[in-house]
Amino acid sequence: MTEVTLDGFDPFSAEIQQDPHPYYARMRDEEPVFQVGDGAFFVVTRYDDVLEALRRPDVFSNEFGGPGTPGGGYAGGDTELADIVSQGYPPVSTLLTADPPAHTRYRKLVGRAFTPRRVNALVPFIRDLADELVDGFEGDGRCEIVTQFAVPLPVRMIAHALGVPTDRQADFKRWSDASIAAIGAMLTREQMLESARGVVEFQLYFAAQLEDRRINPRDDMLTDIVQARIENPEEGEDTTPLSIPEMLSILQQLLVAGNETSTKLITETCRMFVENPEATARARADLSLVPNVVEEALRLATPTQGMFRVVKSDTTLGGVDIPKGAMCVIMFASANRDAAGFPEPDAFVPERANAKDHLAFGKGIHYCVGASLARAEAVVAVEKILTRLPDLRFGDGNDFAYEPSFILRGLKQLHLEFTPAH
Ligand code: HEM
Repeated sequence: MTEVTLDGFDPFSAEIQQDPHPYYARMRDEEPVFQVGDGAFFVVTRYDDVLEALRRPDVFSNEFGGPGTPGGGYAGGDTELADIVSQGYPPVSTLLTADPPAHTRYRKLVGRAFTPRRVNALVPFIRDLADELVDGFEGDGRCEIVTQFAVPLPVRMIAHALGVPTDRQADFKRWSDASIAAIGAMLTREQMLESARGVVEFQLYFAAQLEDRRINPRDDMLTDIVQARIENPEEGEDTTPLSIPEMLSILQQLLVAGNETSTKLITETCRMFVENPEATARARADLSLVPNVVEEALRLATPTQGMFRVVKSDTTLGGVDIPKGAMCVIMFASANRDAAGFPEPDAFVPERANAKDHLAFGKGIHYCVGASLARAEAVVAVEKILTRLPDLRFGDGNDFAYEPSFILRGLKQLHLEFTPAH
């Protein structure tokens, strides 16, 4: 691994984001709860410390700001932006950016849309979709896997799960991109207006759909969300059904949390296959390994590299004092390569016995709501890649550049060549 220094470590440096793992490895060894500069900003890198922070949500809070606000939460003074935002619904902090007791209510109400029955019912659609996408490029013997497979698979799957008709799917992708842009990247004013327009369009479309499901219930996820009620409440528990702004916030989180993460997982898995031909041949020879391959790929790729936590009271983690008000990043990607939990942590081992102990979906109360759906989708994707794109190798034109992000890690593009199976 490259030799690096932690002096002046800047998590937002584009260069470090290309390959942060040597930095995390050094932090785990030397300063596992790493203070960035001398500010109130800490990076938590060891498996045990990450787990401890995830298990103490009363101190390590998720109330770090509402993603997906039209205009990125900024409307002050800009009348054009304020005008666009006023046509939509007010932002609400739900799941990812809420703490108990509000969070508990959201989880109970949303859980109904992600039952094993719902997820299993989507699998035949995912299989057909994966086949259709591979049909589109198989005969070429080459593809750019991000645009031709890893983006459309999750986007079209979620669109289908939410009942978006085929002729609105391009809009759906635009709304998803607008929601992601709204998370708070540095946007120009024009991009901010564009993102706000997309989010408002998304809100108006789904508000009408939710209203329709209220009157005409169907056997689908939107109806699950509209009809969700708290059953057997405990004394004093808030049993209010979800309001339209709350449902819209949740739907938006499904897009933001579910699309890019799955895209990045599938792409990175392909890179691992090419770089580890022997291990990949073992998985191809025994497809019963596929679910474990997905876990191992989640461990190594960890598309959501880390997540923010705001510290609610003075505390200590890994022997380091952290003051109230400090911001922490719980670095799942680093925990997943901690040799204390995973021997030979950087190696891709399809048979790894404890691959499933990874923290790529988090742990505790914010554990990924879509984990079973993401797993089902990744299993189908990996099966198709192994069986339909054998002899996978890198094509021309790869620069292996990753998206510039501290939180979401994924290749911008990946050109592959293969010997068509048919
Ligand atoms: C490979 C794919 C995915 C990865 C790596 C991933 C990762 C994560 C992680 C690490 C968290 C926990 C964040 C925290 O602790 O603050 C999370 C939460 C969440 N994920 Fe996923 N996710 C994936 C797919 C999905 C999908 C497909 C959906 C929905 C369709 C989804 C919806 C959510 C939501 C709504 C939350 C917030 C849950 C809460 O705060 O209670 N994710 N995800």
